[in-house]
Amino acid sequence: MRIAIGNDHVALEMKKEIRAWLEEKGIEIIDVGTNSPERFNYPVSGYKVAKLVASKEVDAGVLICGTGVGISLAANKVHGIRACVCSDPYTARLSKQHNNTNIIAFGARVIGIETAKMIVEEWLNAVYEGGRHQTRIDMIAEIEQTQALAAAEDTEK
Ligand code: RB5
Repeated sequence: MRIAIGNDHVALEMKKEIRAWLEEKGIEIIDVGTNSPERFNYPVSGYKVAKLVASKEVDAGVLICGTGVGISLAANKVHGIRACVCSDPYTARLSKQHNNTNIIAFGARVIGIETAKMIVEEWLNAVYEGGRHQTRIDMIAEIEQTQALAAAEDTEK
């Protein structure tokens, strides 16, 4: 399994710990950074991880900033991305089983490292259930598609 991981300056230490913990499990990690404590704009790493997930160069993505909010918002702008910010393992598990999330995000200022590991563990072990949930995911994809077409028409005008 290959996972892309990204963060901002606030989440650097948590990212390092999560990265090392995943590597110990034999998971291959693509770390898009930042790896500096200097102030760093989270959309940069959110976008990089989202592109790797959307292009299927990796199997999943993990994003960490102060709250997980900004970095997941950035990732969700990429076509095909379903990123969810979680502060508990239950939401993380359900987000995979029902929403087929392909990126999990959380906040280094919100949760501790053990909760973060539980969230990632539950999420990676969960399996998408499909069925009735696929109808709803298709509806989300349709909104995405309609918006992209409307934007393309606007540029043509
Ligand atoms: C950085 O100060 C902070 O805004 C960022 O880490 C994140 O929480 C944004 O959603």
